[in-house]
Amino acid sequence: MSAVRVYPDAAALARAAAEQIAAIAGEAIATGGRFSIALSGGSTPRAVYTLLASAAFAGRVDWARAHLFFGDERCVPPDHADSNYRMASETLLNHIAAPPDQVHRIRGELSPPTAAAEYEQVLREFVVGSAAPRLDLILLGMGADGHTASLFPGAAALRETERWVVAVEHTQPPPPLVARVTITPPVLAAAAHVVFLVSGADKAERLRLVLTGPDQPDILPAQLARPSNGTLLWLVDAPAASSLGGENQGA
Ligand code: 6PG
Repeated sequence: MSAVRVYPDAAALARAAAEQIAAIAGEAIATGGRFSIALSGGSTPRAVYTLLASAAFAGRVDWARAHLFFGDERCVPPDHADSNYRMASETLLNHIAAPPDQVHRIRGELSPPTAAAEYEQVLREFVVGSAAPRLDLILLGMGADGHTASLFPGAAALRETERWVVAVEHTQPPPPLVARVTITPPVLAAAAHVVFLVSGADKAERLRLVLTGPDQPDILPAQLARPSNGTLLWLVDAPAASSLGGENQGA
């Protein structure tokens, strides 16, 4: 089941995303006693995390029962300006009462293969022997090239079926190669809920292709984020939705 909700601007999108996260957290804690979320990197989630940490959302999420993971990480130290962990810490983690041993960062300071293997073990231990790494919620962004997490067009990781976490290399213009660690399609498929946050007119054409075009995940990796037994929700702002047909306009 998937849905697209369009919001007038990035601020409205952030509010809707924070509400959605709080609702999924409450449902997960009520039914299973804990809430697992994989945070997204990038810039769009900043406003969402800041809102979740604000007085407006005080008490809305029982962070003491939350386990916070990351969908991907750049292979840099945790205090590096490019670190997703640093961004999440500044906006959310440093401001909520999640027990430190329930914040599971990808150790980007390690060699990429070592960081990936270590994180896969963290996930496997969390799901305690389950065949699939079913997290309650995976937050994702989408790049203007259609990538999500660190699953980039044409990458071998797009066809990964066994490993849950892999190291990837991505040439960002300009070079040098930027090594990353990312969750893989099996983790996306196992999620109970996947929520995309997409903002900005630069995403509009790619978003139209992802949502309404043919299935071509090798060039549109965001199409891979389809839970096999869960929900998929796209929260987008009007500029990002500007190439979609009328059926997707207006939340
Ligand atoms: C990252 C993210 C990446 C991001 C998209 C969208 O580590 O950067 O995992 O997939 O979500 O590139 O980024 P923006 O939110 O900045 O547009």
